[in-house]
Amino acid sequence: MGMLIVSIHMCQAQTVTPARVKALVAKMTTEEKVNLLVGMGMKLPGIIQGGGTGIGQTMDKVEGAAGTTFAIPRLNLPATVVADGPAGLRISPTRKDDTKTYYATAWPVATLLASTWDIKLVEQVGKAMGNEVKEYGVDVLLAPGMNIHRNPLGGRNFEYYAEDPFVSGKMAAAMVNGIESNGVGTSIKHFAVNNAESNRNTSNSILSERALREIYLRGFEIAVKEAQPWTVMSSYNKLNGTYTSESYDLLTTVLRKEWGFKGLVMTDWFGGTDAVAQMKAGNDLLMPGTPQQKKAITDAINDKSLDIKILDANAERMVSYILQSQAFKKYTFTNNPDLKAHAALARTAAAEGMILLKNDGNALPIAKATKSIAAFGITSYDFISGGTGSGDVNEEYTVSLVEGLSKAGYTLDDALTAAYAAYVKTEKAKQPNKNFFEEFMNPTPRINEMEIDDAELTAKAASADIALITIGRNAGEGSDRKVENDFKLKEAESLLINKVMAAFHAKNKKVVLIINAGGVIETASWRDKVDAILLSWQPGMEAGSAVTDVLSGKLNPSGKLATTFPAQYSDEPSAKTFPGKEFPEKATTGMFGMKAIPTEVTYEEGIYVGYRYYNTFNIKPAYEFGFGLSYTNFTYSNLKLSSADFKGNIAVTIDIANAGKTAGKEVVQLYLSAPALKMNKPKEELKGFAKTNLLQPGQKQTIRFVIAAKDLASFDTNRTSWIAEAGQYDVKIGASSVDTRQSAMFRLAKELVVEKCNKILSPQVEINEMK
Ligand code: BGC
Repeated sequence: MGMLIVSIHMCQAQTVTPARVKALVAKMTTEEKVNLLVGMGMKLPGIIQGGGTGIGQTMDKVEGAAGTTFAIPRLNLPATVVADGPAGLRISPTRKDDTKTYYATAWPVATLLASTWDIKLVEQVGKAMGNEVKEYGVDVLLAPGMNIHRNPLGGRNFEYYAEDPFVSGKMAAAMVNGIESNGVGTSIKHFAVNNAESNRNTSNSILSERALREIYLRGFEIAVKEAQPWTVMSSYNKLNGTYTSESYDLLTTVLRKEWGFKGLVMTDWFGGTDAVAQMKAGNDLLMPGTPQQKKAITDAINDKSLDIKILDANAERMVSYILQSQAFKKYTFTNNPDLKAHAALARTAAAEGMILLKNDGNALPIAKATKSIAAFGITSYDFISGGTGSGDVNEEYTVSLVEGLSKAGYTLDDALTAAYAAYVKTEKAKQPNKNFFEEFMNPTPRINEMEIDDAELTAKAASADIALITIGRNAGEGSDRKVENDFKLKEAESLLINKVMAAFHAKNKKVVLIINAGGVIETASWRDKVDAILLSWQPGMEAGSAVTDVLSGKLNPSGKLATTFPAQYSDEPSAKTFPGKEFPEKATTGMFGMKAIPTEVTYEEGIYVGYRYYNTFNIKPAYEFGFGLSYTNFTYSNLKLSSADFKGNIAVTIDIANAGKTAGKEVVQLYLSAPALKMNKPKEELKGFAKTNLLQPGQKQTIRFVIAAKDLASFDTNRTSWIAEAGQYDVKIGASSVDTRQSAMFRLAKELVVEKCNKILSPQVEINEMK
C-alpha cells in the first residue's frame, strides 16, 4: 500500500501542468531561453553549421539524427533528439569504434501507405516505427509528411500521401497516433503549401483562400484535430508573400487559435530568413539552429523590438515538449528494436498498398507451377525501397524482385538473372561514392538499361513461361522530376517493353510490368502492350517479397490510387504553372552556397486538384483516383441513409459482397456532390472511405459512414466561412472516383454556416483561377 501511494505521488510530480512549465521558464535567463529555442546546429561535411555553445552539448547524441536541442542541466532539462523521417527512422547505421549496427526498418513510402486506405494498418505501422524511434533514443520523428500531390512531378511526392486532403489528413492522423502511442513525438510537415522542390527556399506559393483552406490546409487541420501531434514543422516556402515560418496568421491564428493546436512549431532545416519574425509568428524552435539566429533574437530582446513575453510563450511550449520527452523521463533505450518483427509488418503493409492497374486474361497471379520466369529491367535486380534525401532510411537490406521470387520458390531464368546481376554490379561500381550532402546536391542518375540482343530474347521467350519487366524511378528532396525520361519512359525502357512484348507474345506468353516508383508515371502510351501492370510504389526493404506476395496471389491486391495517373502530363491542371516562374535576375546566394532564385507559383487550378479537376471537367485520366483491381470482384447493394433530410449528421450503410472466387478486401469510397448554386464546386468530393475485412467468396460486410456538417461545406471567401448550401446532396458510393455503384440523396433545408474563420493569408495579387 505504502509503495502504491509513493508511485502515485511520483506520477503526479511528473504531470506537465502549465504552472510547472511557467515556473521553469521563470527560472531561466534570457540567454537560456534563446538557447532553448535555437537548435544545436548540424554537422555537414566540410561545413560546420551552428555549433551551439558546444561544451557538454553533443550534436551526436544519436549519430545521424537530424538535430538536437539545448539542455539546461541546472533545471533538469535534457537535450532532446529529433530525426527523420516519413519512411522510417533515419540515423547512422554504424558508429565509429563500435561493432554494433543501428539499422532501422525502411517502411513502404507514404504514397503506398495511403494506397492501402487502411487506417488501422497505417496506425500499426506508425506504432512499430515509433518503437524504433524510442528504442534508438530519439524523441521526435520528423514525420509524417503530408503535403498535397499537386503535380505528378513533385520531387517529394513519395513522402506525401495523396492528392486529396481527406485521405492525407486521415492517414497522417493514424500515423501520428501510432507513432505517439510509444510516448515519442511526431512533426507533421511541411506546413504548408510546399508542393514543389524547385527553389524551395525562395518559392512563393500564391493561391486563393479557398484553395488554401479546402485543399492545402484541410489535411493538416484533420491531423491536428484528430491526433494533436507533439510538433508541426513549418515549410521552406512563402505562402502568399510571407515565409510560412514567419507567418503569425498561419502558425498562431490558424494553427493554434482556429484549430486548437497545443504543441510546438519548429522550422524546416535552415528555413526562413528572419529569426525574430519567426519568434513572433509562434515558430518556437529554429532548426537546426545557427549562432546568427541566437544573436538576432538576443539583439531584438535587448533593443526591445522583440517582447520577452513572446520568447516566454515560445519557451513554455518548448519546455512542455521537453517534459514529455523520453530524454526527460530518462528512458533506458535498448538500441535493439525487434527489426525482424518490423520487417514482417513492413512486408504486409507493402503488399496491402500495391495496386493492380491491369490484369488482362488473368495474367496474374502467377502459378507456383510456372516453370521459369524471365525478369527484365535493371530494377528487377536493384529494387528501390524508398526515395532519396531526408525521406530515405538506412536499412540493412532491400529484397530485390528476383530474390523475392526465388525465396518464394519460383524458378527464374538463371542465365538471364546472372547476366543482369553482373551488369548491375559492374555499372553500379562505376558510380561515384558520394556522401549524403554530395548526393543531395547532385543526385547520381540510375544506371542505364542493359541491352539484350534479339536472338537471345527469342530464346528466352521460348524457354520461360512468363516475362516480368520492372521500371524504376527515384526522386527526393531538393529537386522535382522531369517529364522526359522520368514521367515518360526512357527510350531504352520503351525499347525493352517493345522487344519483350514482341518476343513473348509471339510465343503466346504473358508480359507483366511492375512499376517501382514513388510517384506517378506516364502509362497510356504503352499499357496496351503488356498483359498486366502492378504498381508496387516504393515498398520499403521487404520490397521483392511483398511484390511476390501479390504476384503469387498469396495476398490478393486491394490497394487503390490516392493520386491520379493522368493520360499525359499536359492534362494536369497545374502543368502550366509547375514548378513556378523564376526571376533569375533577382538571384542571391542561399543555403549551402546554392543559388537562390526567387520563384512564384500561382495555383491557377484553385480547388481543382487531381480528381476534382478530372471529374468536373470530364478529362479522362489513364487511371483515376480510387482505382485498383483485385483477383476477385465485389458487389455493392442495399445503400441506406438514416434520413432524407440533413439534421446534424447522416449515417450511410452499404453492403459489400465478394462475388468472385478468391478471398479479398475492397476499398469502399463515399463521394458527395453538393449543390453548386452560389459557389462553383467539384463534381464530387471524397468524404469517407473504408476497407472491408478479408471477405471470403460469397461473404458480405456492411460498411457504415457518417456524414457531418463540415462534409457538406465549402469555403466561401467573401464570408470567410465554411458554408453548406441548401439543396440536394448526392451520396455516391463507389469502387473509384468514377466507378459509382450505388447512389442516394438527401436534402439540406436551409443554408448552414458551419464555421467562421479569420480573414487572413489572402493573396496579394489577382489570380486567374479555374472555375
Ligand atoms: C527537410 C525536412 C527534414 C529536415 C531534417 C530538410 O531538408 O525538408 O523534411 O525533416 O531536412 O533533415
